[in-house]
Amino acid sequence: MIMKENRYLTFALTKGRLAGKTLSLLEQIGIDCEQTKDRDSRKLVFVNEALKLKFFLAKGPDVPTYVEYGAADIGVVGKDELLEQGRRVYEVLDLGFGRCRMCVCGPADAKKLLRHHEMIRVASKYPVIAKDYFYNKKHQTVDIIKLNGSVELGPIVGLSDVIVDIVETGSTLKENGLEVLEEICPLSARMIVNRVSMQMEYEKIQEIILKLRHLLEDPKGGEAI
Ligand code: PRP
Repeated sequence: MIMKENRYLTFALTKGRLAGKTLSLLEQIGIDCEQTKDRDSRKLVFVNEALKLKFFLAKGPDVPTYVEYGAADIGVVGKDELLEQGRRVYEVLDLGFGRCRMCVCGPADAKKLLRHHEMIRVASKYPVIAKDYFYNKKHQTVDIIKLNGSVELGPIVGLSDVIVDIVETGSTLKENGLEVLEEICPLSARMIVNRVSMQMEYEKIQEIILKLRHLLEDPKGGEAI
């Protein structure tokens, strides 16, 4: 059995933009991982031996899975994935970056389809969020079509009337002749924790949460762990 003091605390980070921002935030509270700084590396797991920390990079939708099953103690992932998957993890912190909005989007003339509660087709990478919004909030029966990316294609090629998707700058919509028709909710990066790890590694994890919370409240006052 692995002795508790030799145990690594493992972070699952969302590959891409969120990972970079997460690592720079962690660095500000003294959690540094030199190995992650090699931009050309294809390596997936990084270790800080001195602090007994491990970091790995995963696809966003998989981060809550790693954390729920305990393969990672801590994860950083967009709120969109947490809403979509409803995994059994603790959401402990809004990290304040990766801010964007979940919206119903489409061509301007699709607005009337939303007003008249028509039976419409909705394409989305987020069928659970889309269903919850249309069925439970708008009480509108719709046909939801799951896509895996480039969702803006839906209304353009005639697959769907509207889409439910993330809007950040709005430029993807604009360049494709679409617009925000209704806003569902704001989104941002969240820190999540495995439920067992929260008990077994309470002190270590609480220390990280508290330091991050202080840093987010007072960005100039970060202290080393
Ligand atoms: C996301 C989202 C939109 C776009 C929004 O897609 O699904 O397409 O970003 O960003 P914007 O408002 O700044 O233009 P992503 O880049 O993750 O790729 P995907 O289409 O393959 O999901």
